[in-house]
Amino acid sequence: MKITRTVTEFRAYRQTIGQHLGLVPTMGYLHDGHKSLINAAKVKQHPVAVSIFVNPTQFNNPDDLATYPRDEAQDFELLEASEVDVVFSPSPAEVYPPNYQTYIDVEQISQGLEGAHRAGHFRGVATVVGKLFNIIQPSQAYFGQKDAQQVAVIRQMVLDLNFPIEIITCPIIRESDGLAMSSRNAKLSTVERKAATILYKALSIAKDAYESGSEHHPQKLRDIMQHTLQQEKMARIDYVSIADAITLKEQENPTTAPLLLSMAVHIGDTRLIDNIIIGE
Ligand code: PAJ
Repeated sequence: MKITRTVTEFRAYRQTIGQHLGLVPTMGYLHDGHKSLINAAKVKQHPVAVSIFVNPTQFNNPDDLATYPRDEAQDFELLEASEVDVVFSPSPAEVYPPNYQTYIDVEQISQGLEGAHRAGHFRGVATVVGKLFNIIQPSQAYFGQKDAQQVAVIRQMVLDLNFPIEIITCPIIRESDGLAMSSRNAKLSTVERKAATILYKALSIAKDAYESGSEHHPQKLRDIMQHTLQQEKMARIDYVSIADAITLKEQENPTTAPLLLSMAVHIGDTRLIDNIIIGE
């Protein structure tokens, strides 16, 4: 496995391989969710690149950036075992040199949900992913449905800016008790870890109510999620949402269109997100 830390080094490697390259962009502290994206990329039988970069421009909260878990040695081990071909692990100054001044703003699709609660987050995500696409020049890039709005933003950016890259969305990987895998789960204490199962529980109860036919009204489904979350004393709700799964617009009237049920919830100092699609 080739480890590269600069754009020049990566470009030199890129010239040694063919047209096809799969990219899995990450912020490291890798888990089985990331691994599932790598496995999806490996299916294509092309070389696979993984980027590890804790991108400062997408953090709206300096504490969150400072406490974001990191373990490069462990990540490299996992990537080696996964038979990844090349890693791009740049420093912040390599990605954002002094006098850096260009950003990508994907407008409408970035506005609701996470965008409404994390000012500037998607501007940072779109900018770094746009830069990674230019540096790495993948033919395919793999993203998790865990970050549903992120993948919608990236798809829009690829369309609008004519990146010749196929975007592949992979399903959410969960722990056995339903908690969606996340690097941030490492920040939870034992009691918080137990409390964190309330997110998937709330999504599942709303999904069941919808699928059993008993409840199709968006506000009622939001109420079900909210009431379930309120039963967990350690949970502090940032938002719960019932949105159109394509446009991500908040829904007020019953519809037959697929819906994205999503939420952001603080458990102690850790902010967790989760989602589920219904009515597909
Ligand atoms: P990170 O949170 O490290 O996630 C990297 C990729 O793994 C994302 O596409 C994310 O959706 C996916 N992922 C995380 N947990 C997952 C799970 N439980 N199941 C399936 N996929 C999962 O997302 C980012 O980094 C950054 O915003 C990035 C795209 C790298 C830009 O900085």
